[in-house]
Amino acid sequence: MTIVTAKSLTKDYNHFRAVDSIDFEIFGGECFGFLGPNGAGKTSTMKTIYCFMPPTSGELTVFDMNVVSSPSEIKRRIGVMPQENNLDPDLSVLENLIVYARYFDIPKKESVPTAWKLLDFVELRDKADVKIDHLSGGMKHRLLLARSLINNPDLLILDEPTTGLDPRSRHAVWDKLNALKANGMTLVLTTHYMEEAEKLCDRVAIMDSGKIIAIDTPAGLMSLHGGNLEDVYLKLTGRRLEH
Ligand SMILES: Nc1ncnc2c1ncn2[C@@H]1O[C@H](COP(=O)(O)OP(=O)(O)OP(=O)(O)O)[C@@H](O)[C@H]1O
Ligand SMILES: [Mg+2]
Repeated sequence: MTIVTAKSLTKDYNHFRAVDSIDFEIFGGECFGFLGPNGAGKTSTMKTIYCFMPPTSGELTVFDMNVVSSPSEIKRRIGVMPQENNLDPDLSVLENLIVYARYFDIPKKESVPTAWKLLDFVELRDKADVKIDHLSGGMKHRLLLARSLINNPDLLILDEPTTGLDPRSRHAVWDKLNALKANGMTLVLTTHYMEEAEKLCDRVAIMDSGKIIAIDTPAGLMSLHGGNLEDVYLKLTGRRLEH
């Protein structure tokens, strides 16, 4: 089952082409990764998938619906963990989840028990009443992950889910994402980290300057170009991926 189909997907910001006629498909139950350096166009691609902004041209369908004609229907079935922390600092951890649930018209009698379950999932139950400023960076990441799951999405979009985390926190997030995948959720993530792509992704699109320069399984890319994904990127672009 195909969840996302992009044909000649293009995104311009005024005269700057951030996403340059890319084609890809994302299948149900897989973890699909966009790997590339700063400015490659990963976030711009994600934002068109989660209907934050329309493509400039090309065709993009999610759950067989067009992102331009059916954004509300699509958004209801998507969870998003954005690249930037946009938690509400005036609210507690638990309140952040409950208020977010309102965007999906989830009644409080449903959202409260769901929020507690999600706090258990990301191991933040004991922080439920704490204000956001009192959380560590890793805890904020985990809360963003919990929040992205509040509507029990069919497709979860994670824009750099572990950037800035120490190795232990990064592994904790990977464990959670693998658990979601084992439950059949479709995941799309962006990353700068080769190791993350290798550990989580069934297939990877390598992006550079708005274009997809390769799509394959991590193993396929490595057998074709040798070494690890880091070497693959170097071979394909002549440049190293910065960390
Ligand atoms: N709102 C905007 N207006 C103008 N240009 C933008 C805007 N958002 C992004 N860009 C430009 O588009 C290009 C792609 O940006 P994008 O955020 O998609 O890259 P990215 O691959 O997510 O990078 P990073 O790894 O740093 O998050 C960059 O050159 C960026 O400067
Ligand atoms: Mg980005």
